[in-house]
Amino acid sequence: MKILLTGGAGFIGSHTIIELLYAGHSVCVVDNFVNSSAEAMRRVEKITGVSIPFYQVDIRDHDALSAVLDQHPVDCCIHFAGLKAVGESVSLPLEYYENNISGTLVLVDVLRKHGCRNIIFSSSATVYGDPAVIPITEDVSKGKCTNPYGWTKWMIEQILTDLHTADPSWNVVLLRYFNPIGAHPSGLIGENPNGVPNNLMPYITQVAAGKLECLHVFGNDYDTPDGTGVRDYIHVVDLARGHVAALQAVEKNVGVEIYNIGTGKGYSVLEIVKAFENATGIEIPYVIDPRRPGDIGTCYSAPGKALAELGWKAEFDIEDMCRDSWNWQKRNPNGYVSD
Ligand code: NAD
Ligand code: UFG
Repeated sequence: MKILLTGGAGFIGSHTIIELLYAGHSVCVVDNFVNSSAEAMRRVEKITGVSIPFYQVDIRDHDALSAVLDQHPVDCCIHFAGLKAVGESVSLPLEYYENNISGTLVLVDVLRKHGCRNIIFSSSATVYGDPAVIPITEDVSKGKCTNPYGWTKWMIEQILTDLHTADPSWNVVLLRYFNPIGAHPSGLIGENPNGVPNNLMPYITQVAAGKLECLHVFGNDYDTPDGTGVRDYIHVVDLARGHVAALQAVEKNVGVEIYNIGTGKGYSVLEIVKAFENATGIEIPYVIDPRRPGDIGTCYSAPGKALAELGWKAEFDIEDMCRDSWNWQKRNPNGYVSD
């Protein structure tokens, strides 16, 4: 298939390009580089040996996006583009709603005007809120989000579902990611957070690199085996392959379908620290801090639906994830900026 990736230069998009190309698909990328760079695209080209058409385009720019699709007709869009910093979304709600929601509205309008009615959307386990059932299956009701970022995912899921109701020729695949970590085993591409990382694994790798002094563990009084938060960490290469598998749902004309993309295993913060130390031999000093506002205790998936219907399951284990995260950090101490 010919696939448009919005936000394709970002962490998950860049890994997905590689897996799509390996599976025989062709790609076209748009990204405004607000949280990525053309260097990521050059690295993907280096890994794959393929020259990739990519355009510095904001998905809110109707004319520019139309011009790309005039030149590159596509069968399906994988929609990664969006702002994703949870804390920032609390202080900049309008910017988040505008970028993520207006961007999606413009995108689907341009797609339908170009005869493409297939979309795979990057959603998040955050739409479950504080989940009523663990492990979380796709039929668990959506919950209340604790921040504007989460609400944009919640609302975009609804908008795309309504779009299918109005025009059943649309196929909408909602992928609810759990916690992607790791990096491409080449060490050429990975997660490139701006400033001090908010997420656990990039924080740990920066402690390991000596850029940060010690890890702050947010709370040890949750109802979990060691009191620290439990999450379903998934290797970004597995997640990328989940998108290739999701194309089968599009080919089968499923209408609207939701898949959890996780491993089904939960690890606590302290278990991640241990796994990182085992995988790398580097000690991670930590202190226990109060809970982070908006956090929940436990969140992990029941990933069986994606296996049953798409034949997809995660293959990498937690040591692989830690090793590849560290390999990326070690080789690229300043991310995509060469030092
Ligand atoms: P990322 O920030 O690395 O990638 C997003 C990309 O979108 C960036 O390259 C950014 O420059 C681009 N972008 C943002 N706004 C744009 C716009 N208006 N026009 C064009 N490009 C734009 O993030 P990621 O981790 O790769 O996440 C990809 C998607 O998956 C996002 O939608 C994110 O919300 C979602 N998601 C991520 C996680 C996670 O933990 N990383 C979890 C659940 C869902
Ligand atoms: N944590 C720490 N210290 C840190 C960072 C995180 O103890 O410095 C803890 C958190 O309290 C939590 C766990 O590590 O228990 C994971 O935290 P992350 O910030 O890495 O991930 P979250 O589960 O909070 O959020 C992530 C993405 C969201 C997405 C959500 C979906 O950041 O975008 O997963 O489940 F919505």
